[in-house]
Parts: sequence; structure tokens; C-alpha cells
Amino acid sequence: MNYERLTRKQLPKRVYQLLKRIGNTGDEMGLSVFVVGGFVRDLLIGSPNLDADVVVEGDGIAFAHAFAENEGGQVKRHRRFGTAVVVLPDGFKVDVATARTETYAHPGALPSVNPASIKEDLRRRDFTINAMAMALNEDRFGELVDFFDGKADILSESVKVLHDLSFVDDPTRIFRAVRFEQRYGFSIEPHTAELLQRAGSEDCFKTISGQRLRNEILLILKEENPFPAIRRLANFDLVKYIHPRICVSDELAELLDRIRDMGWCPNWDMALISLIALLDQLSADEAVDVSERLALRKRHTEALSLCKMRLPDILQRLDGINLQPSEVYRILKGLPVEVLRFGMAKCQGASDNILLYLTRLRKVRRLVNGNDLRRLGYSEGPLYTQILDETFAAQLDGLRGKSQAIQFVTDRFPL
Ligand code: CTP
Repeated sequence: MNYERLTRKQLPKRVYQLLKRIGNTGDEMGLSVFVVGGFVRDLLIGSPNLDADVVVEGDGIAFAHAFAENEGGQVKRHRRFGTAVVVLPDGFKVDVATARTETYAHPGALPSVNPASIKEDLRRRDFTINAMAMALNEDRFGELVDFFDGKADILSESVKVLHDLSFVDDPTRIFRAVRFEQRYGFSIEPHTAELLQRAGSEDCFKTISGQRLRNEILLILKEENPFPAIRRLANFDLVKYIHPRICVSDELAELLDRIRDMGWCPNWDMALISLIALLDQLSADEAVDVSERLALRKRHTEALSLCKMRLPDILQRLDGINLQPSEVYRILKGLPVEVLRFGMAKCQGASDNILLYLTRLRKVRRLVNGNDLRRLGYSEGPLYTQILDETFAAQLDGLRGKSQAIQFVTDRFPL
């Protein structure tokens, strides 16, 4: 079956045309080129995915350079895996790889790679639904390359490995299986579930780095609705690899629901907010254990620590209490937005005060600065800080405009 029409219908025009031009560069170089993996899966499922992973039968790096030159783009390369990213002038990125086999020196190791055919390249992948390609060369454009019945598994809504050692080769696939299953409302096929269970019960994660485990867990937490996947991980008894004391309860489901109900903004790190929720029942020391085991980034570790060390007290001070805006500002100043959003979901009585801070107070800019004080005739010294702080607090509590602010200064601190 040919998917040219579906591709044209489903994708934004510029992405469709980009795929055509990728095929044209392949034709110019006499190389077969394909778009693969999640892009093809989501095309067939009908959910938009613009992460174009391109595989070339032949020198992927040379192809990336030729394509970037045709487009006026730039190439960033990853020598070890024979992969490159072409960054187009409008910022759109295309990942390019040489079709390759992968062998694992030991379970969980990063693979050694060798050039191969598209069939072999697809064979090394995690699940049949992710092991399809679509040809991009002019004479084959839209042809589905599906050696492992990925399309049939999409139709029967199954997540299925290609071979029995898949989870042993790469234990991160355990989390990926659950993520795809829950994202699409599919089922992990019974034999795959058995393999997953077996790999999961043998603490296979000790062979992979904390960073790889962390990436997969954050990808789950970044899903639009992460709870079903977390519950499924708990059914497979896998949550203990994050921390044995995490309890996947109705309270956690409600907390995550409330986080989702707050909506979403591109500036928020949703995975971090959900991670804070997941670790909510843990003590500060246990949260530190998780940070270390998952090699969390500094920003995440710091946010977790704020939630354990300072947030409970802060929420108590804000809970159901009518405070002056300047007081709310003083209490919340400097806290990361994710900690504040979590605080809102955790304690509804504090959420009005937090929202006031997020939507108004933190954006307020000072009306009076040191130069103004100098001009007014105040001599420089520690008094400046006091005047500026008090004026800013008054501004938060209602002063409007620069002349009111200056008036406040001269009334409150007569020269
Ligand atoms: N892949 C794999 N094993 C992994 C990770 C990735 O076989 N542990 C392969 C799969 O074929 C996958 C492709 O690499 O489709 C790209 O991986 P990635 O970008 O992580 O995922 P997507 O499938 O694109 O999924 P998502 O929608 O979550 O980005």
C-alpha cells in the first residue's frame, strides 16, 4: 500500500514538501532514503508527529551534508553512531542516520554499530509498531516498508517486541513499552508482557546508567496523562526501581489530575511537576536517593529539595489566609514555577495566593530605583535598600504610577 496521499493529507504542507526534497537528495546521490520509527507509526495512527527520523542506506553523514547544502541548513553530527542532525534555516530539525545493525557488548551497554540495509536497521528496533519505514525516493515515495507486521499490530493495537532479548539488550524499552501502550490505549502483547515481567524481575536496570533510566521516566511523566502508565508500571512491580517507597494510590491519581486541570504552558516543565507529585510521599532523604539514582539534573534536584524542605511551611502560611500582596510576594519570591504549580495542586487553600503571585506579583517592575533616590537628594547608604524595598512593597499593595511612588518615598522618609 502507498501512503503518499495520506502523507499529503495529514502533514503540514511544508513537512510534506520537505520529505519530497529529502527523497530528491537521495535520488541525486543514488541512495535509498526512508523516514522511520515514531514518525511512520504516528502517521498510520493518525496522530501528528513532526520528528522526522531519516535513515539512509549508505553514508548518512554525507547525505546530511548534501541535504543541508541543498536547503541552506547546517549539520551537527554524532560520529560514534553515524548520525547527524540537519538544522534548516527556519529551525526545523531532521535527524539523519546511516542504516545500521547494533550489537550489545553486554546487556544495557550502549551498542556498537555497523552499516546495514534498511531491513537490518528496522530489525534492531524496540517494537514492531516502531519498526516501519516509509520510502522517500521519487519512484517509491510513500511506500510502506514493514517487514515485521507493524501495521497489523497497529490495527490490533498491540505493543510487541521483535525478538525475545529486546528488553535484555535495552532495559529502557520496558518503560517505553508501557508508555506507548498507555499513550495509544494499546495492549502489551502477552508474550511481550511475559518477557517484560521476566526482565523487570531481574533488576535489569542495574546495567544501565541513571541518566538513561531518568530520561525514560521523565518521558512517561511528560505524557499528557501520565497516571495510567505509572499505574501500569506499578502492576508490573517496576515503580520500586524509582524508589521502593513510592505508593501509587488514588491520592496520587487525584494530585496528577489536579496538575493536569491547571492546564499547560510551554514554559512549564510538566515532567518535573509530575515527578514532584510522584515523590510527594517520600522524605527529604529518600528524595535525595532518587535524585542520585536517576542522576537528576541540578534544576530538578533543587526543585525537589525546595518541595521537601520549604514548601510544606510555605503552604501552611498561605492556606486560606488573606495576606497583603507584598507578603505573598515575600513568601514566594524566587521559587521555580514548577514548585509553585505543584503547591497549587497540593493545597487548594493556598492556590489563590500562589496564582496572584504567578499572574501579577512576579511581573511587577520597580517604579523607583537608586538613581531616583540620588536625584531626590538622599545620600547613598544602607537606607537605600530599605527605601527601595518598602516602596516596592507599597507598589505591590496598590501604589500606582511613578509620581505616587515618589510621593510615598518623600512622605515615608522625609529628607
Ligand atoms: N528505538 C529503539 N529502542 C529504543 C529507543 C528508540 O528501538 N530504546 C527506535 C524506535 O524505532 C523508535 C525510534 O528509535 O521509534 C526513535 O526513538 P524515539 O525518538 O525515542 O521515539 P519515538 O518512537 O519517535 O517516540 P516518541 O513519540 O515518544 O518521540
